[in-house]
Amino acid sequence: VTVPVLAIDGPSGSGKGTISRRIATALGWHFLDSGALYRLVGLAGHGAGLAEDDEAGHARIARTMQVSFRSDAAGEERVSLDGVEVAARLRSELAGGLASKVATFAEVRKALVSSQHGFRKSPGLVADGRDMGTRIFPDAFLKIFLTASAPERARRRHKQLKDKGLDVSLADLSREIAERDLRDATRTVAPLVAAADAVLLDSTNLGVDDVVARVLALAHERRP
Ligand code: DC
Repeated sequence: VTVPVLAIDGPSGSGKGTISRRIATALGWHFLDSGALYRLVGLAGHGAGLAEDDEAGHARIARTMQVSFRSDAAGEERVSLDGVEVAARLRSELAGGLASKVATFAEVRKALVSSQHGFRKSPGLVADGRDMGTRIFPDAFLKIFLTASAPERARRRHKQLKDKGLDVSLADLSREIAERDLRDATRTVAPLVAAADAVLLDSTNLGVDDVVARVLALAHERRP
């Protein structure tokens, strides 16, 4: 029997990360944060002193890096990269920027396919990313494409940064988000698009609980 996959794709700031984790917990399934893999490749390349445009070097890292994800006793995310704890650095803007660059390399994307498939274990997998439903798990039984308006995503990110004590202007964030949306949607390799059979969910005017409830209802309805 094939292990069921629920794919959740969408742009950053759509609430994907929070929602995917909640769904995985509710179902008791495994969870894949595919963005974290691109962040890890970016960080490892940076740490190894690779040039930013070294596609083959980053692909080598993607094939050989040893990664493990877990939660500590307090429920905090722990990520080890070649034996070193990197969870805090993984969430930094530096890692996000590096990730968006290495994510444009076809060789890196190819090198990460089998490690992503490795997360597919019984009883099921919730996979969070940009190309989960289109490329990595095209046979997912449910594909959600989660969006929110650009101003709402900027507002959420602004709040997140403010909560962390960082002061960034909303106007700057809005511009950055518009630029990143354009880059993600127009890159030649695996651009961010909804799968033809994805359910589009706009979270602009929905709370996290509402989105989780809708996705769970769809999952129960469609589960093979
Ligand atoms: O979701 P995130 O912010 O952690 O993703 C970091 C970067 O990685 C983002 O610029 C898009 C890229 N990414 C990707 O190209 N494909 C994925 N499946 C996940 C993330």
